[in-house]
Amino acid sequence: MNNKLEKAINTQLNFEIESAFVYLAMKNYLESLSLDGFVNWFDIQFQEEMAHAQKFMNYVNERGGRVEIRGFEDPKNNFESVLEVLEASLAHEKEVTRRIHSLMKLAYEENDYPSIGLLQWYVDEQVEEEDNFSKLIEKVKMVKNSGLYMLDKELATRVFVPINTAG
Ligand SMILES: [Fe+2]
Repeated sequence: MNNKLEKAINTQLNFEIESAFVYLAMKNYLESLSLDGFVNWFDIQFQEEMAHAQKFMNYVNERGGRVEIRGFEDPKNNFESVLEVLEASLAHEKEVTRRIHSLMKLAYEENDYPSIGLLQWYVDEQVEEEDNFSKLIEKVKMVKNSGLYMLDKELATRVFVPINTAG
């Protein structure tokens, strides 16, 4: 496969794994607040990020490239509130979006049509990710403490939907 894209997708798939661990740390902070619904939500977020990484890995391998797994810095483990967790999440997703868009730009520059097709899935996914966290932030601000219990119940119903990781 195209060398520049192989390198850039490797960087991104490692960032997806890093994202998974960012949410895993948040999940465990939320465990300390006994907010089971939020814990469920962030556990699914963790699983989704691992699936995003897997989808990229399958793609690189399918195209005869080589996947390289790297390390990363410790994620943030301590927060002041649920709202701080959600705001950090939205900021993180905006960074992911920025990186996906620059990958897409590279795919166009290199005329790599299969990568453009793959990346469009991630572009669409990021619209949903940012929307999810934006809405959640608004809801938490609206309900404050009295409604937090009700919102927690709603979040507890989210289920993991496996994506097609075949590339
Ligand atoms: Fe992701």
